[in-house]
Amino acid sequence: MATTSIVVMGVSGSGKSTVAEKLVERLGWEFAEGDDFHPEANVAKMRAGTPLVDDDRWPWLRSLAGWIGEREQAGRSVVVTCSALKRSYREVLCEGHPSVWFAHVTVDPDVLRDRLEKRTGHYMPSSLLESQVATLEQLQDDEPGAAVSGAGSPDDVVEQLLAALDSERGLRR
Ligand SMILES: Nc1ncnc2c1ncn2[C@@H]1O[C@H](COP(=O)(O)OP(=O)(O)OP(=O)(O)O)[C@@H](O)[C@H]1O
Ligand SMILES: [Mg+2]
Repeated sequence: MATTSIVVMGVSGSGKSTVAEKLVERLGWEFAEGDDFHPEANVAKMRAGTPLVDDDRWPWLRSLAGWIGEREQAGRSVVVTCSALKRSYREVLCEGHPSVWFAHVTVDPDVLRDRLEKRTGHYMPSSLLESQVATLEQLQDDEPGAAVSGAGSPDDVVEQLLAALDSERGLRR
């Protein structure tokens, strides 16, 4: 199988971290949480509930892209979480990295709100959800990846994601 970098994307609360954890259990690939690549200034802004602007995001995305690129060079497949809401953000991640395959986990805003209200110990306040939903640009046909419904159980989401990846990239061939 060719080296694959699955980028689990979607708005906050869609289940990126949950799905990625299960993927890593299944595949045994190396994992990175995209949020961990934010510079300290961005983390402080998010804690304060201040939406990031794009100039805050480029260094974050370039740093994550660098991590992906190093592993791709070494032929190591990975799983990464990253909201990757805009096409321009996704381009930073996949430019020069043919291994990248986006898995967009899609969930209704009502379900998202409910999940975020129930979640504890996380710095993303649910007030940022509105701006996330407004910012989201759907994955387009000419981008590498697929949209997967996040409405079912985490295991269902993983099954659908792997089936889509298999049909596009021949995961199990
Ligand atoms: N398929 C699912 N069904 C039910 N609950 C889920 C599902 N996926 C995730 N959850 C729950 O929803 C909440 C948000 O999930 P998670 O933290 O994985 O989202 P996220 O996309 O990583 O969010 P963020 O961008 O803020 O990191 C968590 O409490 C998680 O347990
Ligand atoms: Mg997460």
